[in-house]
Amino acid sequence: MRYRVTLIEGDGIGPEVTGATCRILEAARAPIDWDPAPAGGTAMEQFGVPMPEVTLESIKKNRLGLKGPLMTPKGTGFRSANVAMRQELDLFVGLRPVRTLPNVPGAWPGLDLVLFRENTEDLYAGIEHEVTPGTVVSMKTSTAAAGERIARWAFEYMRYRGRRHIHCCHKAAINPRADGAFLNAFRAVGAEYPFIEQLDMGVDSLSLLLPIDPSKFDVLLLQNLYGDILSDLCAGLAGGLGVVPGANIGARAAVFEAVHGTAPDIAGQGKANPLALLLSANMLLEHVGEWKIASRIERAVWRVLADGSHITGDLGGNATTDEFTGAVINALEA
Ligand code: NAI
Repeated sequence: MRYRVTLIEGDGIGPEVTGATCRILEAARAPIDWDPAPAGGTAMEQFGVPMPEVTLESIKKNRLGLKGPLMTPKGTGFRSANVAMRQELDLFVGLRPVRTLPNVPGAWPGLDLVLFRENTEDLYAGIEHEVTPGTVVSMKTSTAAAGERIARWAFEYMRYRGRRHIHCCHKAAINPRADGAFLNAFRAVGAEYPFIEQLDMGVDSLSLLLPIDPSKFDVLLLQNLYGDILSDLCAGLAGGLGVVPGANIGARAAVFEAVHGTAPDIAGQGKANPLALLLSANMLLEHVGEWKIASRIERAVWRVLADGSHITGDLGGNATTDEFTGAVINALEA
């Protein structure tokens, strides 16, 4: 069985980190055929939009995508390509596993968290209008259906992965309808999973407690905006955005992506760390059931990081992208 995967190289360091990731997957004999598609800056030049229809169609057809970082054109009136992709493909699950990797400066020891973010509603629905001059209303959407499908996804993930407890984090005291609907959906679906410990707390309490002791948390479930903010906080606990993978998953397609940006300050210099995109590609392999290859790549990455002699500048080393990539490929055979 081979998988055809839409490959969006992305902008800035995108081509460097996607190139490195593809080399490692090929060396690990991952059964993937890449289907390149444009988005971001290249798509703006070619099609005048950052997420063209041709790319969305490619992902719909292949049902799988791997995406490098995209620059967000500011002040052009276009939706961010990332937001457009999640909405157009209905990728309602934002999945971000956050773990401590060896030799990552500033990482909280023993961190092992999974954050689920509802990707399609909330303030990201983009419903905003000026009621009277100087008064703007931004609408937060929240449906029971969206709350239920993300909650079910999280519970099923926990069941398969042996995860023990989940916190649904909200501001239901302030937004009893919108956040209350999300919390009610969590409780309704949770009733079908009595073997999983279920708790809820204010997102403000979560923000206080996470940096004090993240080991108290296992799985987090949040609406779109809280999830966006808290997922970056969690990445900070793991040592930064450069080491954290991510996925956007829907019923008909899944796109895996590093969560860092295009790093224009180091683009084209051979300094980029491909780790986050590589770990995202590993999530793709797990998603399609290629567990053996995924764990072989993961072991190789851990060996290289633990050894510490081929790590990139962002992690305190001086290896180039190519040197790190070569070290992981060598470690595949160890
Ligand atoms: P950024 O993540 O691109 O850079 C922040 C800092 O981290 C920079 O010093 C950069 O060199 C470093 N860095 C990031 N990834 C790295 C990697 N893989 N290896 C080594 N160093 C790395 O964030 P910034 O500067 O705020 O955004 C730049 C552009 O990226 C903007 O146009 C923004 O819209 C876009 N962006 C795109 C995202 C996506 O497509 N998922 C996410 C975040 C930002």
